[in-house]
This record gives sequence, C-alpha cells and structure tokens, in this order.
Amino acid sequence: MYQEKLDAFPSSFLWGAASAAYQIEGAYDTDGKGPSIWDEFTKIEGKTFEGTNGDVAIDHYNRYKEDVKLMADMGLKAYRFSVSWARILPDGEGRVNEEGLAFYENLVDELNKYGIEPVLTLYHWDLPLALQEKYNGWESRETISAFKEYCKVLYERLGEKVRYWVTFNEQNVFTSMGYRWATHPPNVTDTKRMFEANHIINLANAEAIVLFKEMVPNGKIGPSFGYGPVYPLTADPSDVLAAENAHEFSNSWWLDVYCKGRYPVAVFKQLERKGIAPTVTSEDKALLKKAKPDFLGINYYHGGTVKQNKIEKPAQENEQDKKFSSTDPYLMQPKEEQSQSPEIPMYQSLDNPYLEKTEWGWEIDPVGFRLALRQVYARYDLPIFVTENGLGAKDVLTEEGEINDDYRIDYLNQHVVEMKKAITDGVEMIGYCAWSFTDLLSWLNGYKKRYGFVFVNRTEQDEKDLKRIPKKSYFWYKDVIEQNGENIK
Ligand code: BG6
Repeated sequence: MYQEKLDAFPSSFLWGAASAAYQIEGAYDTDGKGPSIWDEFTKIEGKTFEGTNGDVAIDHYNRYKEDVKLMADMGLKAYRFSVSWARILPDGEGRVNEEGLAFYENLVDELNKYGIEPVLTLYHWDLPLALQEKYNGWESRETISAFKEYCKVLYERLGEKVRYWVTFNEQNVFTSMGYRWATHPPNVTDTKRMFEANHIINLANAEAIVLFKEMVPNGKIGPSFGYGPVYPLTADPSDVLAAENAHEFSNSWWLDVYCKGRYPVAVFKQLERKGIAPTVTSEDKALLKKAKPDFLGINYYHGGTVKQNKIEKPAQENEQDKKFSSTDPYLMQPKEEQSQSPEIPMYQSLDNPYLEKTEWGWEIDPVGFRLALRQVYARYDLPIFVTENGLGAKDVLTEEGEINDDYRIDYLNQHVVEMKKAITDGVEMIGYCAWSFTDLLSWLNGYKKRYGFVFVNRTEQDEKDLKRIPKKSYFWYKDVIEQNGENIK
C-alpha cells in the first residue's frame, strides 16, 4: 500500500532498547546468585564461539548506574531487561535471595529516576540449574509451580514500579535450539521432548499471566515472540499452501496458544500423525483459554521463504535448495533429515532471491517487518510492542576512538520507516526496543557479532577495560527520539 504521507508516531511512543541478563550482567556467582543452565552449558567445550561465557559479560551488574546514565543522556524512553531467576531464587524455588532482588529494585529505581520506562522480562533463557537437575527443567510440571513462585516474588516487589512485563522471550527459539538442535541448554535432540517441554512452557506462561492479573492490576503483560513472515517462492498454489503450513508451524503454533488459547489444528494433527504431539489435558485447555496477554511483544529479525514439500515435488539440486542452518532460529528447518521431522511433508525452506543477507546470513527484510506487524495485529487484535530488532555486525573501533556504524543506522532507519508505515496502516503500537543498548555477549557468537548503540571495549579472550563508547548510531537514535521519529523518512 503506497502512502503519500506517513502518520506521526504517537506522542506516548516508547523508543527503547533491550538486553538480557545472561548477556550483560556477569557477576555469575556474586551476592548469592545460584547457577543457571547457561552457566553450565557455556562450559561444555565447543558449544559457544571461542568458549565465551557470561561469567563477566559486560559487567553490567557492577556498572548499571553508568549504563543507565548513558540511556538517560540518549533520551531513551524505555529499557527492556531480563531478570535472572537464579539471582532471586538461587535454587529456582524456596529461599529468596534478598541481594539479588535488591539489584533489580535498584536498577528499576535508577531507570524510574530518569523517567525511563522499565520493561521487565521474566524469562530470557537462564533457567536455574537446580530446576534442571531436580525436575528436568521444562520437561516437568513442577517447574511451572517454581516459575509461579518466582513470578509472585517479583510481582510483589516490583509490581508497583514496573508497568510493562514480558513473560517468555522467544519461546520458539529457545525450545528448538535447546531440545531439538542441542545448540542451547539443555542440549537435547529430541523433537517429541521439544513439543512436550514447549507445552509445559505454554502453561507456565498462562499461569504467570493469570497471577499477574490478580496481583498487578495496573500493569501490562505479554510474551515476546520471534516472528517472521513466510513467503511462498512462487504463485504456484502448492507453494502458497506450503507457506501457510510454514506460517502455522513457525508462528501460529505459539501465537494462537497465547492469544486464542488453542493450538492450530492442522499442525497439531500433523504432529499427532508423527507421534510427537504434546500431551494436553482438559485442565490445560481451560488454563490456556483463561490467560489473555495485554499486548504482544514482537522480536523481528527476518522471515523465511518456502516451496512445496519435497515428497510431492522432489527438490531439484540448485542454489535455491540450500538448507537453512540449524542456528537460524527464526524458521525451524531440519538440518539433516530426522525421521521425526514434521516439516518434511509440509514445506521446504529456501533463500529468498530478493533479499540480501547480513554477514551472519540473516536476511535483511524491512518490508517483512511492516508485514509482520500488520499480520500480527490483524490476527490477534492486540497492541504490539517491538521488543527486539537490530543488526549484528563486526564493529571497528578506530584509532580516534570512534565507531562509525553507518550500516547499523541504515538498517535501523529502514526498519523504523516500515514501522511508521505500519502505524499509518493502523497498527496499534506501544513502542520499539532496538536490540541492543550496549554491546553484549551473543549466545553463540561471542563479541564478534555486536548489536549495541554503545560499544563495550572487550574481546572474546580479553576483558580489557570494558569501557563504554557511544557509537555513531547512538547519536542517530538520540535524534530520532528527540524528534519522535519525525526525521524518519
Ligand atoms: C534473539 C534473542 O533471538 O536474538 C537475543 O532474544 C539474541 O537474546 C538476539 O542476542 C541476537 O541473536 P545472536 O545470535 O545474533 O546474538
């Protein structure tokens, strides 16, 4: 849809930036924090880039005041961060660690002091190790009770101070990486177990929302989902059907549960045929129906392109048939053919011939961002908070001490323009959190792949001085915020 003039961003629009506890905090065993599954996983040889881990990360735990000051100087309106569950409950349940709680309370107070809206994510992947060891983590319903206990502590302590809450970050990503591809903890390769664990997490998400409505009536809560639109390679109706299959499998499989309280039927039946559908009781169904998010958090990096399954139409060997790598979290696709692969009868993934890629092979697709916002809003009728979007790149610190990341400015600008078009289309939006505020530890790519507005002076092996240096994009975003996006064209 062509629009001659774009609507302005709402005056309340939250221009923000995001992070996650394990990727920034460090202080992995300080002040009574318990270990998480990531503390353990990163110590397994060969699992992360050059063996990087979050023991120190960017030391945000000790430098949060300096980081928040940089946010304030930029004029940031919102900051999304996650809480490390094992700081609050070192054993995942039971004893509360006051010092851990105090850290987040201080952080929130510091943000509020500068008028920066805190956006608190309850779970960004760092499950307390004790729960993994005791109950098998998300494969057990005991973990739901532990999660409720943890939520209750935070709702009680921070419910008055934090308005926006995110339940789970990218459930689609951490379940597939953790239980199917063994590239995240708990290091499992079993599709059946993945779907069972995913269902348990759906229940935990629902419980957290129901409890929130009782305890924090003035707050807003929703999950953050890694969404990507799916394109058919051609107008061949079989390819269009394949795209619908892929969409239901990669997006609706989660979003329908969050918003409609039920699984999409065609995918569920497909999993049943494969013998890998999750076990869903009638009590589960009632709970899922009861929990309604207030908004949807959308993390957008890219979508995917598919064509008809290769059973009905075997693939021809050409460049287009390159398979997605298993580390591409946004479109589940078998790296090697697994007997349990539910995708094989539904679709096959390809590169999109119209899109360029980042250095890490992620397609760059700003129009897909507008499409994503439109699709999600049309289907679920909830306000959208973009909780992540950004470019991972190799940044260079010049001899003059500058980082001239014009490529990031260009990337973000293109995406913000498309978001403005989506707003002009009528999509109701709360805000936009770029990923990320400072540079941080990429789960699998160390410090080579950077996303921040603020450079952090360290490498994989050398912690250096961890100095914070605002990049060129920092000043660009400052300007965008100041003008409430008026300069975005
Ligand atoms: C999202 C995660 O999947 O993508 C973030 O929520 C992550 O935690 C980001 O860092 C970028 O991923 P990567 O692999 O490029 O660091």
